Amino acid sequence: MSKKWRTFLGLAVALTMLTGLVAGCGGQTESKDIKVGGNLELTGGIATFGQSTANGIKLAFKEINAAGGVLGKQLTFIAADNKSEPSESTNAITKLITQDKVVAVLGAVASSNTLAASQVAHDNKIPFISTSSTNPKVTVDGGKVKEYAYRICFIDPFQGTVMANFATNSLKAKTAAVYIDNSSDYSKGLAQFFEEAFVKNGGKIVAKEAFLQKDQDFKATLTKIKATNPDVIFIPGYYEEVGKIVKQARELGITVPLLGGDGWDSPKLVEIAGAAALNNGYFSNHYSPEDKDPRVTKFVEAYKKEYGQVPDALAALGYDAALMLVDAIKRANSAEPGKIKDALAQTKNLQVVTGVVSLDANHNPVKSAVVIEMKDGKQTFKEKVNP
Ligand code: PHE
Repeated sequence: MSKKWRTFLGLAVALTMLTGLVAGCGGQTESKDIKVGGNLELTGGIATFGQSTANGIKLAFKEINAAGGVLGKQLTFIAADNKSEPSESTNAITKLITQDKVVAVLGAVASSNTLAASQVAHDNKIPFISTSSTNPKVTVDGGKVKEYAYRICFIDPFQGTVMANFATNSLKAKTAAVYIDNSSDYSKGLAQFFEEAFVKNGGKIVAKEAFLQKDQDFKATLTKIKATNPDVIFIPGYYEEVGKIVKQARELGITVPLLGGDGWDSPKLVEIAGAAALNNGYFSNHYSPEDKDPRVTKFVEAYKKEYGQVPDALAALGYDAALMLVDAIKRANSAEPGKIKDALAQTKNLQVVTGVVSLDANHNPVKSAVVIEMKDGKQTFKEKVNP
């Protein structure tokens, strides 16, 4: 045997072994089930968000698996806890992709956590669907659409406009104060979009203040805000801090309407703020369990039966993100990440609990929002706003 020939044979053997190895460990298409990851806030500052989302996803997978699964395979959900922190979110998605070999990831909830994870998804060519991150940068970076980034929720320019219009038209507000969570991309973005829309409506921003996550005492800043005498105060934060702010604001004798965004949606909000303090409080959200749409009532019933509680928006969005992924896998007729990604971009007229989803060129659904009014500790449906 010539030396050349021997080298060739050696290479061929090595190549065959390598192919076998790759197919053996990465071959999702060969496995009996389809593994889907969840990068979620299961503990930490916004734990109710991640837990509700996981419950929604699990319910969807249970129903789909009971009906025969997808492409003849069962779906397996693997949840990883990002502890409500951006750095942990990077760890969680890395583990899901490299160890668990998932074909796609659902989550995260908070925009900062999804932003932190999105580079890992891109580098590994694994698509993700954020269930509820509303900051525009989640799917678009410097004017460029991120190939592997998708979401099932509306975005903050819309949500901010909804609340600004509500302040101007329904509450007749002429002036507003804005109180921003400076540790959250979501809060900073939503504040900006609210301000822009409110000013466009002829309103005036009379105060702009900031806090940080885990802050406890907001009274000094609230006193400053009170002195500017705003018609409304917009607080685009998450329930832990918002709950304390609302409580302390009322203690200081601030009686004006307090407004917020989807980050208010937690059963903990009432626990922390108290029911009475939340009266005259309004926030935008993705759906209301009181909606009489048959898709909503069917979901609410199934969820109540499974978990014994009324599903919040996070649960509905988790459920919907799971449906969106399964729809893409079916249309792709494949569970390969690259093919799922291409099919996701083509999502059209998909009927889910929180609305009808068609993705635009920036991978964002164009969907309606609802305004919720807090009445004696209960969320009540105030109005539905179409884009
Ligand atoms: N929209 C929030 C964010 O981007 C997350 C959120 C969605 C929280 C829905 C509650 C309900 O960070």
